[in-house]
Amino acid sequence: MSAHGTPIPMTAHPSGPLTGRADVPGDKSISHRSLILGALSVGETKITGLLEGEDVLDTARAMRAFGAEVTQHGAGAWSVFGVGVGGFSEPEQVIDCGNSGTGVRLIMGCMATSPITATFTGDASLNSRPMARVTDPLALFGAQSYGRKGGRLPITIVGAADPVPVRYATPVPSAQVKSAVLLAGLNAPGETVVIEREATRDHSERMLAGFGATITTEQTAEGRVITLQGRPELKPQTIVVPRDPSSAAFPVCAALITEGSDVLVPNIGLNPTRAGLFTTLREMGADLDYENLREEGGEPVADLRAKFSPNLTGIEVPAERAASMIDEYPVLSVVAAFATGKTHMPGVKELRVKESDRIDAMATGLRLNGVTVDEGEDWWTVHGLGHGNVPGGATVGTRLDHRIAMSFAVMGFGANAGVHLDDGSPIATSFPIFEPLMTGLGARIERTQA
Ligand code: S3P
Repeated sequence: MSAHGTPIPMTAHPSGPLTGRADVPGDKSISHRSLILGALSVGETKITGLLEGEDVLDTARAMRAFGAEVTQHGAGAWSVFGVGVGGFSEPEQVIDCGNSGTGVRLIMGCMATSPITATFTGDASLNSRPMARVTDPLALFGAQSYGRKGGRLPITIVGAADPVPVRYATPVPSAQVKSAVLLAGLNAPGETVVIEREATRDHSERMLAGFGATITTEQTAEGRVITLQGRPELKPQTIVVPRDPSSAAFPVCAALITEGSDVLVPNIGLNPTRAGLFTTLREMGADLDYENLREEGGEPVADLRAKFSPNLTGIEVPAERAASMIDEYPVLSVVAAFATGKTHMPGVKELRVKESDRIDAMATGLRLNGVTVDEGEDWWTVHGLGHGNVPGGATVGTRLDHRIAMSFAVMGFGANAGVHLDDGSPIATSFPIFEPLMTGLGARIERTQA
C-alpha cells in the first residue's frame, strides 16, 4: 500500500553506461530547518534551492498552521514571514507530517515551550516510529504529551506555559532528538544544554548561530556539549540550500556499478557529519573524485565525479562512522553486493527505526535478488558477488520508504535481470525528480502495471 494514494510499481532495468550531469535536489535536513527557523524569526526569510519533496511541503503547511506566512515564489524559491520565538499560535487542525520523522520531531520541539496545544499524526510508517525519544526530553521543559501505546503518533502535546531550561544527554545518536531539544530551548529562559556522545549532523547548531542565536559547542570527555541561550530574537536570513549528499548517493552509486559510467554530481555539501558514505566508497576502491573542492557558507563543497568501478572490494565500515552516513547504508549495501568479499556494517541499531526497519527491508530484498546477507540487532554483513554476478529479477517491497525504493532501483541498473519495486511512490518524499534525472543519465526505469 502507498501512503501517497495508489502504489506505483516500477522496474529498474539493467542500464549503462550512465553519463552526464546529475543536478540533485536541495538538502532535506537544511530545507526543513530553513522553514522552521524562518517561522521562528521576526520578519522575512528568503530561501532558494528548497527541496520541494513531500516531507518538506508537509513542514511548510505545518508552519502555516502555527501562524507563519509561507509562500512559494518559483521553483525552489520560497519566503517565510516568521512570528518570532514564542510567537506560535495554536493550530486549528491536526498537524499531518506525512512520512517525515524530521518534520514531526523538530516541530514538536519548537511548539513544546509555548502555551499552546497541538496534535500530530503521519502516515503508517511515521505512526509506527518511536516518539518517546522526543517527548521524554520535552517533558523536562514542562510539556505534557498524550499518545498511543509505545509513544507512537498520533500524539497531542500541551506546551509548557512556564518552561524551564534543560540539560539533556541524548540516549541515542539522533540529530532529530538533539534538534528538538534545542528548538524547545529557544523559548525557555536561561541555558539549555544538549550533550551527545557521538557527533550527529550539526545543521541545527550552524543554522541557529546563523539566525543570531547564541550557541556554543565544546568537545569534552562526555562528548559534544552544545549550549544555547534561551529567548533570543532570531533574525531572518537569506538561505541558499545546498544540494543533498544523501540524494547524490544514488546517482553516484549507480555510476560505480554500471559499466562505462562517468557521472558528474555538482555542488554537493561535504560537511563531515554527512559525508561518511563517500569516504567508505573510496575505501572500497570506488573511482570517486572530489573536483573543485571549495568552501561555501562555511561548509566544504565539491563536484563529485563517479566512474564505473569494476574492482570494488568489501570492507569493515567503522561503527563510529555510522552517524555520518546513517541514511546511506541502504544504497551502500547495494554497492557491497557488487563488490568482492564481505562488507560488515556494525553499530547501526538506529537503522531499525527509520522510515522502515532498513536492515530488514534491504536484507529481505537483497536475498530475494540472489545476495547473501547476515544480520544481528545492530549489524549486518553483505556477501559481495562481484561485478556482473548479481542476479536480480525479483520484486521487492519498498515499505513506504523512499531510500529503500531508490536503493533497489540502483540495484536494478546493475543487476543482470533488473529489479522490480512493488511501489515507487515513496521516492517523492525526498527526490521527486529521481526518475527523469536517472533516465537523463541513461538509466532505464519505468512505471509498470500493478
Ligand atoms: C535527520 C536526522 C537523521 C536522519 C534523517 C534526517 C535530520 O535522523 O536519518 O533523515 O535532519 O535531523 P535521526 O535523528 O533519527 O538519526
